[in-house]
Order: sequence, then C-alpha cells, then structure tokens
Amino acid sequence: MRYLVTGAAGFIGANYLKYILKMHSNCEVIVLDKLTYAGNLLTIQEELKDSRVKFIKGDIQNKELVENIFMRHDIDYVVNFAAESHVDRSIENPQIFLETNILGTQNLLDMAKKFWSIGKDEKGYPIFKQGKKYLQVSTDEVYGSLEKDWAVAQELILNESVRKVISGRKTLPTGYGESFFTENTPLSPRSPYSASKTAADMLVKAYEDTYHMPISITRCSNNYGPYHFPEKLIPLMIKNVLEGKKLPVYGKGDNVRDWLYVKDHCKGIDLVLHKGRLGEVYNIGGFNEEQNIEIVKLVISTIARIMRDEPRHQKVLKTELSNISEGLITYVQDRLGHDARYAIDPTKIVTELGWYPETPFVEGIEQTIRWYLENQEWVNSVTSGEYQKYYEQMYQGS
Ligand SMILES: NC(=O)c1ccc[n+]([C@@H]2O[C@H](COP(=O)([O-])OP(=O)(O)OC[C@H]3O[C@@H](n4cnc5c(N)ncnc54)[C@H](O)[C@@H]3O)[C@@H](O)[C@H]2O)c1
Repeated sequence: MRYLVTGAAGFIGANYLKYILKMHSNCEVIVLDKLTYAGNLLTIQEELKDSRVKFIKGDIQNKELVENIFMRHDIDYVVNFAAESHVDRSIENPQIFLETNILGTQNLLDMAKKFWSIGKDEKGYPIFKQGKKYLQVSTDEVYGSLEKDWAVAQELILNESVRKVISGRKTLPTGYGESFFTENTPLSPRSPYSASKTAADMLVKAYEDTYHMPISITRCSNNYGPYHFPEKLIPLMIKNVLEGKKLPVYGKGDNVRDWLYVKDHCKGIDLVLHKGRLGEVYNIGGFNEEQNIEIVKLVISTIARIMRDEPRHQKVLKTELSNISEGLITYVQDRLGHDARYAIDPTKIVTELGWYPETPFVEGIEQTIRWYLENQEWVNSVTSGEYQKYYEQMYQGS
C-alpha cells in the first residue's frame, strides 16, 4: 500500500496521515506539501520519524516534481488534500485558489494517468493497473447553500437512515431545514473557494468519463478537532477566549454548518478509498447542524467550566477567569455571499460502507478544547512562524 498524500501538513491531511499509519502497518506514505502558511511540519513531527514516511516539500502543480515522485515510487493511492482552503482568503485573492485547487488537481490526475495506464482497450480507453485509485477530498460547499427554514432547530424525523447515522448519540438530532445535500444535489458553488473545488471535482469526474480513470470523490462538511489552524472558527474562538480577546462573529451568527469531528472524516475517507465503488461520490458528515453563535457560546461555557473545575489549566489563560463570558462576543460585518446553511445527508456512505459519525458534537468539542489547552506550544509556534525555523533546521537545503 503506497500512498501519495498531498497537503498532509495541513489540518485534515495531518490527521489522516496519523490515522493511516496507525491503521495500516504495511503502508508507506509519500507526503507532498508546499508548506504554505497552513502547512506545519510540527503537526507531523512524530510521523516524520517513522521509516514508512517520506516527506517532500513542493507544489502539486509542479509537473517535474510530481512526475519524479511517480517515477521513483510505485504509488497505489493518491489522496489529494492539498488546497487553499479558507473562504475569506479566496474572497481577497481568488487566483491562487484556482491555481492550486484546479491546476494542481489536473497535474496530479495527469501524472497518475500516465504512470498507472498500461495500454488501451479495443475502444481506445486507457487500461489501468489493478488496485490503483485517485481520491479527491472535496467539500459540501460545492453544493452551494441550503434554505434555512426554521430560526430555531427542530427535531429531525427519525427514518431508518437517520437512526443509523445518530447511532450512539445521547440527544436526538435537530436541524434548521427540510432539505439536505445528497450526492445528486446540483453543484452550485457560491464563493471563489467553492467554485475552485467544484471545478476540481468536475475535472476528476471528467477523467473518469474520458479515460476511465479509477477515482473517488468525498464531500465533507465542516471539520473540527486537533491541529486546526487558528484562523478557522472553532480554534480561533478557543485562542481568543484564552487570551481574553473579542470573539468576532459574522452577521447575526445564525449561519448553520454541519460539524464533523476530523477523525470521523479520516475514517470515512479511508473507507471510501479501500471499499468505495469506483467513479462514485460519497458525502461524509451528517445531522450535526449548529449555528455559529451557538458554537461560540459552547466554546465559552466549556472553557469556563474546565477552568473552574480543573484550575491547573488556568496557567494557559492570558486573562482573568472572570473575563470569560459571552460579553467577549462582538458581531462584525457579514462575509460577502455568506452561505446560510449546509447540511449533509450521508445515507450513501452509511448504507454502502457502514460509516457513521462516531463522535457526538458536545464530546468532540470538549476533546478539541482539551487538546488546545494541552498543546499551546503548537498554537504559539504555528502562529508565530516558529515552525518556519523548525523547517529550516529539519530540512536545510531541500
Ligand atoms: N477544513 C474543513 O472543514 C474541510 C471540509 C471539507 C473539505 N475540506 C477539504 O479538505 C482538504 C484539506 O483541508 P484542510 O482544512 O486540512 O486545509 P489546510 O488549509 O489546513 O491544509 C492545506 C494543506 O495543503 C498544503 N498546500 C496548499 N497548497 C499547496 C500546493 N499548491 N501544493 C502542495 N501543498 C499545498 C498546505 O501547505 C497545507 O498543508 C482541502 O482540500 C479542503 O478543501 C476541508
């Protein structure tokens, strides 16, 4: 099992690298990452010591480099996490999103096609070596935005599929609307980020249709968990609460996202890679709808509780415990074109592959907060540029 995992110094890719090394003793992993501001070798420093892992710093758009990787290593699976991933940044500067997310994907597809094909069938389609697969990690944002039908969350109707998805949860699932994203929902991206991810998905599908390339696509809802760069909602709120800084919330804070614990996502991706049907799209996530403002309040109350109950954690506070309150919330001008609601229907991956989100939201958030409390060094290094120094030390000249 030789994986090429791109973007594995980023949030989800790093969690995925940790997951597969634990799950598959017989795997080898080539990590290709450009180490943009979002990629941090500190995140995977333990994994880099593993003899099964080889790290290569570089851009997925670099033809010579990617060709070289395929030439030197008999890659079985490409799992493409590498992307520009922050919507706000895509509104400021769309171009790099198009370059990395679309052209980078095309380069990976081209090289995989070149090295994996072993001739042509009678109709002229390439024949691919057995067991090879390209998996594109995509997002539910390609489907656009759903209607938010209700201002207050309502309990979901418990049909058979919902029951499977919520298996193990203590509370009944609620939602803010009647419709959900399925794999058949028309693609309708609304930000430069989601437009670039959509274009990439369509290219991946086009390589399947045109060349019969062995591919899968996964589309996931918002992830949270350890190693999340503190520019995204949850880690940013945790960081600001601990520092007693204002908590900026877009608009009225009523945008809804379907939250998934990152480890559950990684498990879903690996299942699709090994068991998913070729050429198929699988949505990953489900029935964990939360409004942004509720998440911010939950982060505040959870941190305040942990600090009170376990005073040893107070050493990481850069503010008085009494300052940790909803008074820190400040409403800021809404994001341009801010999507109202995302909600995933994961029936396909649940029924075909037996996957379901194992971590209930309240538990996942507490685990995440505890991880950040215990890993302040990581937060400080990734925000201070310390990791750049670490990179220079580790990989001088490469
Ligand atoms: N974070 C989420 O909630 C979420 C949800 C659904 C889908 N996704 C998708 O999952 C993937 C990973 O997301 P993430 O949150 O871990 O992103 P991230 O921004 O944390 O990490 C991206 C990684 O890709 C690397 N990278 C960027 N440009 C590159 C290039 N040109 N060549 C090589 N490496 C490059 C970065 O250095 C970084 O390590 C993305 O494709 C994203 O669209 C993310």
